Amino acid sequence: MRVLVTGGSGFVGQRLCPMLIAQGHEVQVVSRTPHTVRERLPKECDIRDSAQAFIDTPPEALVNLAGESIAAKRWSDRQKDRLIRSRVEATEQLVSLCEQLHENGQPLPKVLVSGSAMGYYGDQGDRRVTEDTLPHDEFAHRLCAQWEAAAKPIEAMGVRLAILRIGLVLGPDGGTLQKMLPPFKLGLGGRFGDGKQFMPWIHRDDLVNAILFLLSDASLSGPFNGSAPHPVTNAEFTRTLARTLHRPAVLPVPACVLKAGLGDMSQLLLTGADMRPARLIDAGFTFTYPTLDKALQAILDD
Ligand SMILES: NC(=O)c1ccc[n+]([C@@H]2O[C@H](COP(=O)([O-])OP(=O)(O)OC[C@H]3O[C@@H](n4cnc5c(N)ncnc54)[C@H](OP(=O)(O)O)[C@@H]3O)[C@@H](O)[C@H]2O)c1
Repeated sequence: MRVLVTGGSGFVGQRLCPMLIAQGHEVQVVSRTPHTVRERLPKECDIRDSAQAFIDTPPEALVNLAGESIAAKRWSDRQKDRLIRSRVEATEQLVSLCEQLHENGQPLPKVLVSGSAMGYYGDQGDRRVTEDTLPHDEFAHRLCAQWEAAAKPIEAMGVRLAILRIGLVLGPDGGTLQKMLPPFKLGLGGRFGDGKQFMPWIHRDDLVNAILFLLSDASLSGPFNGSAPHPVTNAEFTRTLARTLHRPAVLPVPACVLKAGLGDMSQLLLTGADMRPARLIDAGFTFTYPTLDKALQAILDD
């Protein structure tokens, strides 16, 4: 199958693209800077600077991962707009590509697996969250809701749409874990605030397998929580990471310090949802790394 991936140069895409190629798929990547990201991706990937640039070789499946990094900068109003716009516009490009293919009488892709995040649900305290849970209205929810809504029109063209509400992705050499490791390795790690907030997480390999699963099973559509079946609180995450590294974790970071330092972005660290992958499990998906200690051990041994 020919699979087009937006954001294929990112932390998740860099694992997904080689996996797709290993399974015999042809991979097309949309990147803002094809030349710069060339060396991060397998040589077989066809990298172009827009989805429309693939009109001559129409993809049979789409994976949508592009978006401005959530934790790169403080959430000023301008940055919030950038976070939303980068995702909505990347998604709209895919819808436009399908409209164009339809107008040309060319075949349309069969499926779009489109990114979203645990932030869709907003702060849910310690309530158990499945795909049926009503969201809490806050910036993270509005961001994800607009991202998901931008993909919706593709369904009217007969393209199957599966939305993945992704938890914190854990893997070697990148993502949030890479930023957390230095202080933890020095024994300077600690929980954030009271540590009771949930941190749904997923091993990057399980996320890539979930994307492949959603691409291949034609019966699956709608929202899917993309996180491991055993989420943990921030305090448990802190303890497990410290234990895996054989270091203490005794320096909690008070909520007021995070709020003063990070502004609205501190919500990312201080709130969360006990998100469960109910629909993936119902569909028969199996996680290689269901528990955090197993996932961290594998990543740190890598
Ligand atoms: N990693 C996580 O823990 C996590 C958790 C929940 C949800 N997600 C979501 O899952 C998706 C993939 O995650 P990831 O960690 O692989 O993301 P990532 O590495 O931060 O970025 C993915 C790609 O998005 C493109 N991008 C960056 N800024 C952009 C902008 N302003 N406009 C358009 N494209 C831009 C970049 O591709 P080019 O530079 O090649 O254009 C980048 O390689 C993201 O949308 C992310 O929000 C990730």
